[in-house]
Amino acid sequence: MGMAGMMGSMRSFMQDASVVKQKVRPGTAKRMVRFAVPYAGLLALFLFVVILDASIGIVNPLIYRAIINNGILKGNATLIIRLAVLAGILGLFGSALGLAQAYLSATVGARVVLALRTKLFDHIQQMPLAFFTRVQTGALVSRLNTDVGGAQSAFTDILSNVVGNSVTLVLILGAMFVLSWQMTLAALILVPLFILPARFWGRKLQEIMRESFNLMAAMNSLMVERFNVAGAHVAKLFGRPQDESKEFRAKAARVSAIGVKTTIYGRLFGTALMLMVIFATAFAYGWGGVLAVQHRLDVGTVVAFVSYLGRLYVTLMGLSNIQVSLMTALVSFERVFEVLDLPPMIQDHPQAIAIPSGPAQISFDRVAFRYPSASEVSLASLESIAVPDKTPEQTVLSDITFVAEPGQLVALVGPSGAGKTTITHLVARLYDVQNGSVSINGIDVRQAKLDSLHQRVGTVMQDAHLFHDTIRANLLYAKPEATDVELTEALRAAQILPLIVSLPKGLDTLVGDRGYRFSGGEKQRLAIARLLLKAPEIVILDEATAHLDSESEAAIHEAFEIALRGRTSIVIAHRLSTILKADQILVVNEGRIVERGTHAELLERRGLYAELYRRQFADAG
Ligand SMILES: Nc1ncnc2c1ncn2[C@@H]1O[C@H](COP(=O)(O)OP(=O)(O)OP(=O)(O)O)[C@@H](O)[C@H]1O
Ligand SMILES: [Mg+2]
Repeated sequence: MGMAGMMGSMRSFMQDASVVKQKVRPGTAKRMVRFAVPYAGLLALFLFVVILDASIGIVNPLIYRAIINNGILKGNATLIIRLAVLAGILGLFGSALGLAQAYLSATVGARVVLALRTKLFDHIQQMPLAFFTRVQTGALVSRLNTDVGGAQSAFTDILSNVVGNSVTLVLILGAMFVLSWQMTLAALILVPLFILPARFWGRKLQEIMRESFNLMAAMNSLMVERFNVAGAHVAKLFGRPQDESKEFRAKAARVSAIGVKTTIYGRLFGTALMLMVIFATAFAYGWGGVLAVQHRLDVGTVVAFVSYLGRLYVTLMGLSNIQVSLMTALVSFERVFEVLDLPPMIQDHPQAIAIPSGPAQISFDRVAFRYPSASEVSLASLESIAVPDKTPEQTVLSDITFVAEPGQLVALVGPSGAGKTTITHLVARLYDVQNGSVSINGIDVRQAKLDSLHQRVGTVMQDAHLFHDTIRANLLYAKPEATDVELTEALRAAQILPLIVSLPKGLDTLVGDRGYRFSGGEKQRLAIARLLLKAPEIVILDEATAHLDSESEAAIHEAFEIALRGRTSIVIAHRLSTILKADQILVVNEGRIVERGTHAELLERRGLYAELYRRQFADAG
């Protein structure tokens, strides 16, 4: 005990006491313990070290007692030296054991968290797309990090603070009672006098810490908002630098003011603690000294007692917040369990079958669909970080029926918000339909193995996403075993090779924020290269609406051509050339297929298609 003990009790006082009022689902404690079971061996070792360490701590004052009673008072110098050396050696041992204790508790905490983190990652990865559209990813990640971190420090805290202090407390009290039960009782009666002020300061400190976190967060979010690329862009064009500076200065000033307050209160807490130990020592010397003069207690015992007393108070203080420590652990674990308990809505059917490779036919049979509501994605428990739910979800698609034969190109056209993108989501089973069915080669996608389905279906979205990594890594994501020759081939087919080879680092160029910024069209061509490596039988393509310059337009056109060749494809078409090539055009409006046929047939009908065509392509065609 000593420095570490002080710090430990101070830390436990700084935990948010309001957790004690929270209700935790029954069984959480059991589940939490289950995470520690694999480390039973380490925990046993930890307990052993704790007991050994505490025992050494108990022995030390007894040695001093012997030095005074049997050495100093009896004039035995040899004994004094021997005992002093023994005390030194034991001190050395004690320190080593203290280190071992810290190592073991930190290790168990860290391993538990490792298990928890990986489990969470794996679980969240299985969540359907709907989950990610509902949850603000940043908030989810930071909440999980906080909770997992909380779980870790709570675990370590419980081990080192609660377990360590409990063992120490029992041993100290035992030793004190043996030395002088009257003085021990007196010391215990005084305990509340010491604990209550500590609690008071602890609570004050908590408030200040919380306020300081909030102020810091406000200041940081202002910086992040203004200094990220998009924010800086807006600020440059519309911002008023002087006002911004003023706002920032105000926030920063509050942060620095609270910094001083935190330091002072922290210091006050420490001082109060020290003062109490000093008072207790004075009291024990006072009373014990009188008893010694009256020959009712020997001098050595008084000294030993005083030394126990200091430890007793520090230990008790560490334990007085035990409830908060335990609840913090439980609450953190519960919040992690909540996420682990969300069932992934889209999972492999128990009897799922793999879709065999080879030519693929896609058929939609009277499909009706609406997007799942927040509660259906089981996000009630994550409400605070989910996008607040509005009205119940409306039907987005009804009675969609069509067949894309192997190798055919089906073009979807229609006004914005008609449901075109939604139709393409259903092919790869990003969502499940409410009615009817979507099947590939006659296999309902709900009966298909998800990985085989994802293997067969390749998608290029309007704003293709590339990970912040090298171009090579982004391409290998589609086919980890691809050789450089294959990568180059794919890039060439996607009409993007000349650009890549012109980059100084070629395939090893970083993509994204701190790497090379590709234009929208270039990104889409990289996405096509990625798709070509994957070589799926089915291609879904969302053509960009953005106006591209004619050169890259030609390149993209060529790349699309190659990507679609020989594959069954569904294309959300914005280009006349694509539409003209389509085997079948489906005109989607308000979630229904309102017209279908080839370009010539549809123009003839003079319906919605003819109108859309006139508006979009009249000047182009
Ligand atoms: N994740 C979602 N959750 C709830 N509703 C959605 C979601 N995505 C789209 N919608 C709604 O579904 C309807 C169809 O959207 P969809 O994206 O399929 O339209 P679209 O035809 O692709 O339009 P655009 O041409 O503008 O891309 C819209 O009313 C839209 O608001
Ligand atoms: Mg769309």
